[in-house]
Amino acid sequence: MALRSSPRVMPVTAAVGGVTLKTKAAVLWGAHEDWQIEEVEQDDPIAGEVRVKLTASGLCHSDEHVRMGDIIPMEPGGFPFIGGHEGAGVVEMVGPGVTSLAVGDHVVLGFIPACGRCPSCSAGHSNLCDNGATLITGQMISDGGFRSRVKGKDAGTMCLLGTFSPYVVVHESSAIKIEDDIPLDKAALVGCGVTTGWGSAVYSAEVKAGETVVVIGIGGVGINAVQGAAMAGAQRVIAIDPVEFKREQAMAFGATHTFSSMAEALAPITELTWGRGAEKAIITVGRIEGSMIGEMMALIGKNGTAVVTGMGDMMQSEVTLSLFELSMLQKRLQGSIFGGANPRVDIPRLLGLYRDGQLKLDELITQTYKLEDINQGYADMNAGKNIRGVIMYSEEDY
Ligand SMILES: NC(=O)c1ccc[n+]([C@@H]2O[C@H](COP(=O)([O-])OP(=O)(O)OC[C@H]3O[C@@H](n4cnc5c(N)ncnc54)[C@H](O)[C@@H]3O)[C@@H](O)[C@H]2O)c1
Ligand SMILES: [Zn+2]
Ligand SMILES: [Zn+2]
Repeated sequence: MALRSSPRVMPVTAAVGGVTLKTKAAVLWGAHEDWQIEEVEQDDPIAGEVRVKLTASGLCHSDEHVRMGDIIPMEPGGFPFIGGHEGAGVVEMVGPGVTSLAVGDHVVLGFIPACGRCPSCSAGHSNLCDNGATLITGQMISDGGFRSRVKGKDAGTMCLLGTFSPYVVVHESSAIKIEDDIPLDKAALVGCGVTTGWGSAVYSAEVKAGETVVVIGIGGVGINAVQGAAMAGAQRVIAIDPVEFKREQAMAFGATHTFSSMAEALAPITELTWGRGAEKAIITVGRIEGSMIGEMMALIGKNGTAVVTGMGDMMQSEVTLSLFELSMLQKRLQGSIFGGANPRVDIPRLLGLYRDGQLKLDELITQTYKLEDINQGYADMNAGKNIRGVIMYSEEDY
């Protein structure tokens, strides 16, 4: 056979992802049930994917929404469902064709993938990346399939991540390389809560120097809206939460005033602003209701912006608000996912601010848990005990 003058380029094909790893995960079998720790069979990464060995996973309220039936994972993912979407760790294996990551890289997992080339990404809105289309069905970006099985059944993963497991296989567009010196447990929080809160103030509300900003709901997300608003130069950052511990924490993160409810805050905000109302309000309550929108809109004045970051029942379609004030006072109601931030720009940016001492991350972690204690972690979140609870993985988990 004649030799070719140049080597033939072989088409890159997806590896056959056989079962090579047995691990575990916190799994939901249905709404209104507790998390169960189950054995997981995890395939190797196929083309475009990586396996990450996780250091930590934050306990964000959004997973609690799945447990409470507010967010319903759609078929073909459905249940069993591996939770968790706020993680960081080290790349352990790369699939064929992966160019942006190598084994040993430290990564934060973004709860929204960012491909960098779809229309949304290209327009500078990678929090709206088209690769996020299957977030709710749990189907992998690469092939529409699943990499994990629980009791022989394909398992969907929260935000195509599933960080309530010591190992995840994710698409490379979900993993953002970071510097090696950043502690991974702190970095994990930047994959959701920190960027979502900070960006809700800095990007979605576009807080400007000298403004009055109200943040309603001081959890892992809201506390970072407080720190974002303060960093953007707000004159007043007014934090609202029924839990005293949250109000104390808000003051430590840059709030200037606190109140226990929107009703209690209305008159003092009117007074503080000489009757004009706040310029910006951001709602980051654990479970929002339609009636809260009108209450929030009443706190902002003419030309004000109200940002909705918190989530509630995904089937809810009714809100109350004054339509007259909406148009006549030219108020703006703005939704926000991932704080309007771009994962590949903002995750490294926020970690840089942390390294330089300008962004608090250490103080966000109130309590750490083993994966096996995840239900306790969520009970503590619901009891208002944590700014953020974090699952820490150790050698015994791998
Ligand atoms: N839009 C996004 O991209 C995005 C991303 C992450 C989380 N979220 C959502 O943001 C919300 C907050 O998440 P979290 O992890 O910070 O939750 P969390 O449970 O840690 O914090 C919620 C806080 O809201 C407070 N709260 C409850 N009812 C209140 C009320 N009526 N008024 C004022 N405060 C009240 C609670 O005391 C608590 O401190 C959740 O709905 C979550 O699903 C949205
Ligand atoms: Zn989250
Ligand atoms: Zn994209």
